[in-house]
Amino acid sequence: MCGIVGYIGPKQAQPILIESLKRLEYRGYDSAGIAIINEETKKTSKKSELIFRKDQGTIDNLTSILDNNTISGRVGISHTRWATHGPPSKKNAHPHIDCTGKLALVHNGIIENYNQLKDKLIKKGHEIVSETDTEILVHLIEDNYNGDLAMAVRKSLKTVKGSYAIAVIHETEPDRIVVARNESPLILGVGSNENFIASDVPAVLKYTKRVIYLHNKEISIVNNNSIEIMDLDGNTIERDWQEITWNLEDAEKGGFEHYMLKEIFEETKAIREVLRGRVGEIIFPELSIYSNTIFHGIKIIACGTSYHASLTGKYIFERLTRLPTTVEMASEYRYSEPTHDTPLVILITQSGETADTLAAAREARRRGCRTIALTNVVGSSITREVDDIIYIRVGPEISVAATKSFVGQLITLYLLAIFIAEVLGHLKPEPAKELKETLRTLPSVVERVVNNTSEIKNMVKSLVSAKHIFYIGRNINYPSALEGALKLKEISYIHAEGFPAGELKHGPLALLTKDTPVIAILSKDHTYDKIVSNLIEASARNAPVIAITSESDDEIQNIADQVLYYPDVPSLFSPVPVAVILQLVAYYTAKKCGCTIDKPRNLAKSVTVE
Ligand code: F6R
Repeated sequence: MCGIVGYIGPKQAQPILIESLKRLEYRGYDSAGIAIINEETKKTSKKSELIFRKDQGTIDNLTSILDNNTISGRVGISHTRWATHGPPSKKNAHPHIDCTGKLALVHNGIIENYNQLKDKLIKKGHEIVSETDTEILVHLIEDNYNGDLAMAVRKSLKTVKGSYAIAVIHETEPDRIVVARNESPLILGVGSNENFIASDVPAVLKYTKRVIYLHNKEISIVNNNSIEIMDLDGNTIERDWQEITWNLEDAEKGGFEHYMLKEIFEETKAIREVLRGRVGEIIFPELSIYSNTIFHGIKIIACGTSYHASLTGKYIFERLTRLPTTVEMASEYRYSEPTHDTPLVILITQSGETADTLAAAREARRRGCRTIALTNVVGSSITREVDDIIYIRVGPEISVAATKSFVGQLITLYLLAIFIAEVLGHLKPEPAKELKETLRTLPSVVERVVNNTSEIKNMVKSLVSAKHIFYIGRNINYPSALEGALKLKEISYIHAEGFPAGELKHGPLALLTKDTPVIAILSKDHTYDKIVSNLIEASARNAPVIAITSESDDEIQNIADQVLYYPDVPSLFSPVPVAVILQLVAYYTAKKCGCTIDKPRNLAKSVTVE
């Protein structure tokens, strides 16, 4: 996710900007850039001159460009880009510069109405050089600029829809950085005769512990020794700074002990990001599936956690689109016999770099299938192997264990299934509306789960000494059982297996003893009574039984030894809160076992070998 840094004060800006930008590297990025107002210009008659450098690649790469070409100046902004619109490249990197070359802007977020704004700006003669949504903002501000940068920013933002944290400088106003935010984070670091701006606290902690949090739809004029905050109408807002009590190491994980926990807590925000601009009338402008496209079924291909999201997707697709849906492990797909029917093939990969999934994408195309990739990483290899790409947009995931990307994949699959069902005419407007309304409630459902971890922390005490743990589920929560087991085994090193609950009696039951906890996932639907029977069967073999069920289930506490509840949602959507609970179960178990968690032994974030 993009990182923004700014400095204004008596010192040279460049080293401070680079140092601070490095503190945001953990957010993930693909390009970096810097713009500084140089006041010692001799080459031109101007008093001050905007100078910028940017490139695809690392901050070290940017530093090497600057090594022979230091920009002197005491006000500047810099940026790390995590591509959303347009692949990583020099021209798409920030800062973006207006047609006059005097105005520079960095941005984090997504401008949703950029296409409409772009058309208008092009008609007015603006030359757009990048593929980004961000560049539209810089031209918009240029268009509204009349000698007052803050005024031009306010006027421009009133016409913008979407999320943004921006920082803007103009060479004719070298005494200020103008910043604004809506739904993307931005903080102001308060120094002594100097001020800082950043996407996140760690970027400024070396210089100051006094921070002001900018709120949505606020703008700020940041000078050396003053910070003025106002709303988009120009009304002044008074806000005091707050003292940061964390150290740098803590802050990079946002105060969380591990990236995995941070990423689980980010799921509320991640779901909102996945839904942004897509739920309402569901549109995937990036897709070329039209109502007259004929496909006889859907095949979903993936590995690991993404495979489990795919299995959940099968239930979602079959329920909503009525199309037969099969799921294959990417590493096995190449050995399968091609069918006569040509299915639509969906490849799911968080990293976009998994070698098995890339090979499967090539094979699917060779077989004449239409291919869509669901990935989190813009410009990743999978994007060059498929016909269409949908980005899941959950931001960088650093912990090896996939958490927020799994939830993001599920949400994207709901959206895609509703979209295809509507295109095919299998979903009438009223039920479609209800489904979309439920999707909109999911961020608050997940928020309730992550804000209520005490029961989970208490429950995991009964897991830490187990050698084997079984997870069972039925129907749409059978894949949840598989994913719960995978998450636990990869980070706690406790052997765990997931089964369809009905399969327990066909073999695994032989392994149950008082030392083999069984975690059963329930939802109040047509599978409920059957899974309760399976739970009783396990209990009869003295296995400790833990139920994960919805809040309105008032029967299960009489049967299970322990119960974890999730907020009531229609059972089709229950895999979302269930996934979050299972991730937290894995996390707190691994923590109690003293495991490293973020970097489990033998595992890598991107598996680029077959
Ligand atoms: C488990 C995990 C892995 C990945 C798998 C596929 O927590 O992260 O099982 O899901 O390696 O990775 P992607 O989705 O990047 O293709």
